[in-house]
Amino acid sequence: MSQIMPMQAFGPERIPVSRMALGCMGLAGNWNPAEVGAEHPRKAIASFEAALEAGITFFDHADIYGGTACESIFKDCLAAVPNSREKIFIATKVGIRKGYYDHSPDYIKESLQGSLDRMGIDYVDMYQLHRPDPLTHPGETAAALDEMVESGQVRMIGVSNYYPQQTLALKRYLQAPIVSNQIAISLLRLDPIYEGAAGGNGDGVLDQCLELGITPLAYSPVGGGWLSGKRSIPSDHPHREKIERILAIFAELAPVYNDATPTQLALAWLLSHPANIIPLVGSNNPEHIREAAEAGSISLSRIDWYKIWVASRGNAVP
Ligand SMILES: NC(=O)c1ccc[n+]([C@@H]2O[C@H](COP(=O)([O-])OP(=O)(O)OC[C@H]3O[C@@H](n4cnc5c(N)ncnc54)[C@H](OP(=O)(O)O)[C@@H]3O)[C@@H](O)[C@H]2O)c1
Repeated sequence: MSQIMPMQAFGPERIPVSRMALGCMGLAGNWNPAEVGAEHPRKAIASFEAALEAGITFFDHADIYGGTACESIFKDCLAAVPNSREKIFIATKVGIRKGYYDHSPDYIKESLQGSLDRMGIDYVDMYQLHRPDPLTHPGETAAALDEMVESGQVRMIGVSNYYPQQTLALKRYLQAPIVSNQIAISLLRLDPIYEGAAGGNGDGVLDQCLELGITPLAYSPVGGGWLSGKRSIPSDHPHREKIERILAIFAELAPVYNDATPTQLALAWLLSHPANIIPLVGSNNPEHIREAAEAGSISLSRIDWYKIWVASRGNAVP
């Protein structure tokens, strides 16, 4: 399989980014900064280098990942590969605090400074609101985000876990465009693909992305690892039957796609959607990162894409 990672134009400035991103939630190998030892930066650097070598240029963080340790360890990654900062796209997030959400202007400004300091950089390519905060007026948050863009500390604004009306409410006040919505979408969670209005079974996020030119970022694209086919599924797993159906269709289709692995087929299924979904591969294992990156060269046929969808649904399309 080809190792060449396809690129796509991102946001209104059409910045070139890789079709897949590295999700950095597990980069520190730990959620307690006090427990990060010497082996953790070494492992993170190996993952970072594997991602770069595979053509991944997009890295997704949050202030809270690893209890801040993921952003800190990313500074080591950047230092390990000279001049890497300018060649990559760094996104991070704000808004989740211990037990509550906070989009108040003072807090998001303070958190941005913390993220910049931890990563040792002077701007982020994208700043994302991690989850909607119903207690802050979107106009207040928007004004603070626009200031960040104007100051040059932030290049673009994204949201995460936003339903369509929440995106519209923020858009009403924000001068900067909303360029992406980071959502849980995978063969284990299809809500965003179904319509949300008129009693549809889904939330309509992908349709809104197409309508407004927003790029969907897919989190947990390998279903948190369950779709890799490398884990035994406990008998009480809530999605056991669904996972088994999906892995069965992957086994049937693998020979058609050059012996593609389940991880690769799960990612290729997302990559096929016309909204140009960017899957955030959540691995801290160089071998798994290389495996995932090869999904970029798989082109699923229409009929096979539908076979996989039907396996996930558990029933035929009407
Ligand atoms: N916005 C949000 O609310 C939100 C929520 C969750 C996640 N995220 C973002 O999305 C990213 C990805 O989420 P996720 O970690 O749930 O995604 P994921 O890639 O579906 O799952 C990651 C898990 O799968 C395993 N895995 C991945 N590729 C594998 C492979 N080829 N073979 C075997 N195991 C594999 C990883 O283990 P190894 O490390 O051993 O490979 C890890 O345990 C996060 O890093 C974060 O950036 C955002």
